[in-house]
Amino acid sequence: MEEIIKKIVSQIKQKTDIKPEIAIVLGSGLSDILEDMTDKIVINYSELEGMLKTSVEGHKNQFIIGKINGVGVISMLGRFHLYDGFSAKQVSMPIYIFKELGVKTLITTNSAGGVREDLNAGDIAVLTDHINRTGTNCLIGGANIYYGEQFVDMTEPYDVIYRQKVLEIASKYNINLKQGVYVQFLGPFYETKAEIKMAKIIGGDIVGMSTVLEVEAARQCNIRVLGLSVITNKATGLSSQKLSHSEVLQNSKLATKNLIKIIKEFIKDYN
Ligand code: HPA
Repeated sequence: MEEIIKKIVSQIKQKTDIKPEIAIVLGSGLSDILEDMTDKIVINYSELEGMLKTSVEGHKNQFIIGKINGVGVISMLGRFHLYDGFSAKQVSMPIYIFKELGVKTLITTNSAGGVREDLNAGDIAVLTDHINRTGTNCLIGGANIYYGEQFVDMTEPYDVIYRQKVLEIASKYNINLKQGVYVQFLGPFYETKAEIKMAKIIGGDIVGMSTVLEVEAARQCNIRVLGLSVITNKATGLSSQKLSHSEVLQNSKLATKNLIKIIKEFIKDYN
């Protein structure tokens, strides 16, 4: 694995002199944040020998590298999901690419369903913790131990200082930033009512089909993590509406402006 990662990283380095400190993984429909990026270069995954490709609607299969508020940023449009048929190792591969590029901070975003009563479409929540309900992870079989320990502490997967920082930013701009525990299901089925009931019982506030495996990889190689969910719908059974991907894509736009504000301010204050 590390051979392929090193090969991809050397191809990226040939295309830009920018050394990204922050990586941003953008969930479905959240790409507007890149409008303010300067010195921008776009690298299609297809230009990189050894790189994977996703087929999910709303994902572009691109790395975008540039600067936001003067800080080097690599952004990923098109993450790899287990539900697409990728292995846990493949899902986590971009994180190790980021590590090899020198990234110190991961900002991971996703679209998600709200399990807790107060979570409605258009809300943003900062992740405080997660539950991995996928049954797999990126270290199984000794994969990726080149990058860190095999047994990884997960006391605070989402950086406590970063969480505090974004709560302060939100308060400054009158954004009602919520907090919550994210539960990753395998997907691509949306959850059943019984599964949502279970998510609630086990301590989940938010449900989705991504993020956790990437955060696990990031923590293994000591990248600090900020996790932000855009709530695109109430979870199954909590409203009369049925769930669809097009609704998720549409509703992700409800929170884009606030999400951009939070991330940009976070980066402004980064150094
Ligand atoms: N469940 C799982 N993933 C999701 C949801 C949901 O309700 N909404 C957006 N992504």
